[in-house]
Amino acid sequence: MRHPPRARRTTRHLSWTTAIAVVLAFAPAAPLSGESPVEGANQATAPVHIELTGSRPADDAAVEGPVERVLLTFSGPVQADLSQVMVVGPDDWTVPASRAAHPDAEASHQLVVRFQAPLPDGDYQVQWRTTAPDGHVVSGDLAFQVTDAPPGAERPAEMDALEEPEEEAAVLGMVPPGTGQRWLHLLATVLLLGIVAFRYGTLGPLGSDGVFETVRERAGAGLQKLGWVGLVLLVITLGTRLHHQLGELAGGDGLAWEFLGHLLFQTAWGAGWWTHLVVVVLVGVGLILLGRPGAGGRAWSTLIGAAVLLPLIPTLQGHAMGSELQVVTAPAMYLHVAAVGTWLGGLLMLILVGLPAVRKLGGGSGALPPLARMVNAFSRVALPAVVVLVASGGVTSFIQGGGLSGLLGSTWGRTLLLKLAVVAVAFFLGFYNWRKVRPSLPGNPDAGTLRIPATVEAMLGIVVLLITAALVATPLP
Ligand code: HEM
Repeated sequence: MRHPPRARRTTRHLSWTTAIAVVLAFAPAAPLSGESPVEGANQATAPVHIELTGSRPADDAAVEGPVERVLLTFSGPVQADLSQVMVVGPDDWTVPASRAAHPDAEASHQLVVRFQAPLPDGDYQVQWRTTAPDGHVVSGDLAFQVTDAPPGAERPAEMDALEEPEEEAAVLGMVPPGTGQRWLHLLATVLLLGIVAFRYGTLGPLGSDGVFETVRERAGAGLQKLGWVGLVLLVITLGTRLHHQLGELAGGDGLAWEFLGHLLFQTAWGAGWWTHLVVVVLVGVGLILLGRPGAGGRAWSTLIGAAVLLPLIPTLQGHAMGSELQVVTAPAMYLHVAAVGTWLGGLLMLILVGLPAVRKLGGGSGALPPLARMVNAFSRVALPAVVVLVASGGVTSFIQGGGLSGLLGSTWGRTLLLKLAVVAVAFFLGFYNWRKVRPSLPGNPDAGTLRIPATVEAMLGIVVLLITAALVATPLP
C-alpha cells in the first residue's frame, strides 16, 4: 500500500469535513449567545444550573389585587419558546393566560404570563417548566393567594377544568432519565471513532510488508462489522434522543410536538441532532462503499468525515453549551470526546479486531513480532490521547463544577468523583499494560498475555461511559 496518495486524499477530504464541523459548531451559538444575562440576576462567575430565583407574586405571598400577570425570574437565560407556565386557581381551574414569553428582549432570564382578566380572590398555584440553553429542562411550582381583588374580577366562563395530572414516570433509583440512550450513543461514538483511529493511528504506520497487508485485510472485515454495529446504535439513538427530549419538554405528559420546530432549528441541541443525522448518512455511505471493490479510498474518507463530526454531537447536546465560558468548554468537550474515541475506541479495536488478526501470524520482516509492533503503534496514539483526555476533562470539571465545594456538595459532583474513581482504576490497568505487559510481548508473542488485562481496562472504560451518561443528565451544581 502506498502512503503518500492516501495521505493526500485524506487531507483533501478532511478539509471539507472540518469546514462542515466548524459551521455546525458555530451556527447554533448565534441564537443562544443573544440570550445575554441580565443585571441583577443571580449570575455566579462559574455557570450554575438554572433555578428559579424569584417571582411576582412571590411564593407563599398573600397579594392584594389586582393580579394580572405572573413574572418568574431565573438564575440564567431560559428559552421562552420551550417553556410552559400554567396557573391553577381555586377548585382546580386553569386560568386562561398568554403563552410564556420574555417580558422584553433584554430579559432572557425572565418569563411572564398575562391573564385575560384580573384574578378573583382565592388560592393559586403556578406550575412552570422551562429549558436552559444547554437543553436541560427544569420545572417547579409556587403558590400565592389573592385578596381584595377589584370589583368585577371573576372567574371567566371559558376557564377549562384542569385534567387530572398523570403520574410522573418513576425514575429508576438514582439514575437520571435518558442515561441509557445517551450511553448507547456514547458507545456508538466510541466504536466509530475507534475504527478510524485504529485504521489510521495503529495499522497505518505499521508499514506495508506482507505480514501487515494480511493483518490489514483481516482487520478490515472486522472493522466493517463493528462499523455496522455503531451505525445501528446511531440510528436507534437518533430517534430515541429526540423522543426523550420532546417528552422532557412535555413534562412527562406525552410529547411536546409543538416545540419540535424550535428545538430542531433554534437550539444547540437541535444542531447536535442534525449533526447526528449527517453522521448517520456519512457512516452508512462509508460502510456501503467499504463493501465495494476499489472504493476503499472514498469509503475511508467518508468515515473520516463522520469521525470529525461525531464529537460535536455530545458537545452541542451537553452542559458545555450552557456554560458562560462556552468558548472554552465547547472546544474542551470536543477534544475530550475525540480523545475518548481514540483511546477507548482504539483499545476496543485492538482487542476485537487487531489481536485476532495477528493470531497465528509468523515473525514478519521487522525485528519485533507483529503483535508487539501493533501494540507499540497503538501505545504511541493512546498515550497522547490520554493526556488530552485528562487535560480537557480537568478544565471542564473546573469550569462546570464551580470549585471543590461544587464537587462535594452536589449530585453532579459526587457522580463526577465516582467517574474519576473508576477512571483511576482503568488508567492504572492501562499503565500496567503499557509498562509491564507491552515490554514482555517480544519474548512472549502470545496475544493471550495482553487480552485479559486489556479487556478489563476496556470494560472499565465502558463503565466510565455509563457513569458519564448519568453525569451529563444530572443538573450542574
Ligand atoms: C481525568 C479524567 C476525566 C475527567 C476529569 C473528566 C471529566 C469530564 C467532565 C467534567 C465532563 C462533562 C460532564 C458534563 O457536562 O456534565 C466529561 C464528559 C465526558 N467524559 Fe470525561 N472525564 C475524564 C475521563 C474520561 C474517560 C476516561 C472517559 C471515557 C471512558 C470519559 C468520557 C467522557 C465523555 C464521553 C464525555 C461527554 C459526555 C456527553 O456529553 O455525552 N471521560 N468528562
